[in-house]
Amino acid sequence: MIDKNISFFTNQNLRSIARRLLKQIPAAIKSAQIYPADHPYFINSLELVQETLAELFKYRPEATFSIVENELYFGHLALVEDTLSLRQFISEFEKRKINSLTFLAAVTSAELASFMQLLGREAVDNSDSALLSGKMREKNITNIQLGALLKAEDAASQEDGRREEMKFDAAARNKAQGSFFGSIDVIKQIMHKVENTQGFALNNVHQVVADIASAIDNNNKYLLGLTTMKNFDEYTFNHSVNVAILSLYLGKLLGLDLEQLRLLGEAAMLHDVGKVRIPKEILNKQGKLTPAEWEVMESHSTEGAEVLSQITGISELSLAVALEHHMHYDLSGYPKPVKLKETSLLARLVTICDVYDAATSLRVYHAPALPASIIGLIISKKGSLFDPVLAKAFVQLMGIYPVGSLVRLDNNALAVVYANNLNNILRPKVILVNQQTAGRDPVIVSLEDIDRGTKTFKYSIIEALAPQAYNVDITKYFYAQG
Ligand SMILES: [Fe+2]
Ligand SMILES: [Fe+2]
Repeated sequence: MIDKNISFFTNQNLRSIARRLLKQIPAAIKSAQIYPADHPYFINSLELVQETLAELFKYRPEATFSIVENELYFGHLALVEDTLSLRQFISEFEKRKINSLTFLAAVTSAELASFMQLLGREAVDNSDSALLSGKMREKNITNIQLGALLKAEDAASQEDGRREEMKFDAAARNKAQGSFFGSIDVIKQIMHKVENTQGFALNNVHQVVADIASAIDNNNKYLLGLTTMKNFDEYTFNHSVNVAILSLYLGKLLGLDLEQLRLLGEAAMLHDVGKVRIPKEILNKQGKLTPAEWEVMESHSTEGAEVLSQITGISELSLAVALEHHMHYDLSGYPKPVKLKETSLLARLVTICDVYDAATSLRVYHAPALPASIIGLIISKKGSLFDPVLAKAFVQLMGIYPVGSLVRLDNNALAVVYANNLNNILRPKVILVNQQTAGRDPVIVSLEDIDRGTKTFKYSIIEALAPQAYNVDITKYFYAQG
């Protein structure tokens, strides 16, 4: 919420301050191990931590580090560099089973001193986050928190703003549906023209891309949900639009300006145009393709670039994306690069969105994969198949349980993930499956909600499930018919 409108450069600045703090905290812990509380070295190491925290508090009221899948995040920002100090910080907290650490702006130097001494002097073996939290309470450390990110009082004070945000907005949903289906019509017409060896004009593409970009800019929360609608019969059209929507969300998150977004949207929408030139019996073949058929299938990249090169006003980027979207970050994949040392940045961005949408769709040759497992795949193949920085940004955008995931909560209820949460990728907004009644607006629940009694999260996700196995129709949560 807080960060969405902060510029790319502010985020870079925040990252660098956060990284500095990551070096200073272990140094202060070490110093607490060696020196008594009143020793100048220890006091000095605390002062450094406090100064850096003060810099962070200029931007936001709290500073939260969290570890997700062995990666460190500051707020929703991935701290991408793999430095030794970052690894040490992660292992220090993993040893103690801590998965998040929050400093509130009111933190005092006395609290910081007690906290560093606790971490420095307690035996690691018998201290985990619950034990440590108990000891912190004993020592009156209230402005440093482990594990849970919010106190009940904070949650209550945020509730008013959240109620507005959680309200179902039929007008915004209709607008999102308008842009979505308008885009499908445009790509359909283009592909029919290409099939009949006709050229096509780009102005319609630019119009729908501008529509999508402006919906994203206005924080329309319904557009991302529509990408979960996978139309089996018209796969290539839906897929092209889905990849464009995902790419534009990711581009926006990375701080691209409107002109860059326009080029990115054009390229993403047209990335698979070459499929028109692949014989239908190969495109829709049930079962495995022979090596010769694969070769034909793979030619859709070069065919696409060739088709697009004849279109007046097309951007170079669209040609590059059509040609390179099946080349991997390490240049494996296809087609084999001739002179290329690396693929273009925005092609690498489209590639991630392409893989995600294709793998989560039902095809003749595969069942849809769980969105959460493709997020896992993208994390595990970053640096080989996928650009590592873009892969992390994608995970930030989609969360660990992306929109459209069916999940089981810790009270055993089933829920559909409805909207992502950039501030906490493990706690999206969901709709409880059995509480959705026909003809009524969906009731949206935030997994950030805190139970006032127990002061813990009301619901947490335990696992992702396959919707087919539970007879849940994900589409109906995102698409209003009529
Ligand atoms: Fe493709
Ligand atoms: Fe594709």
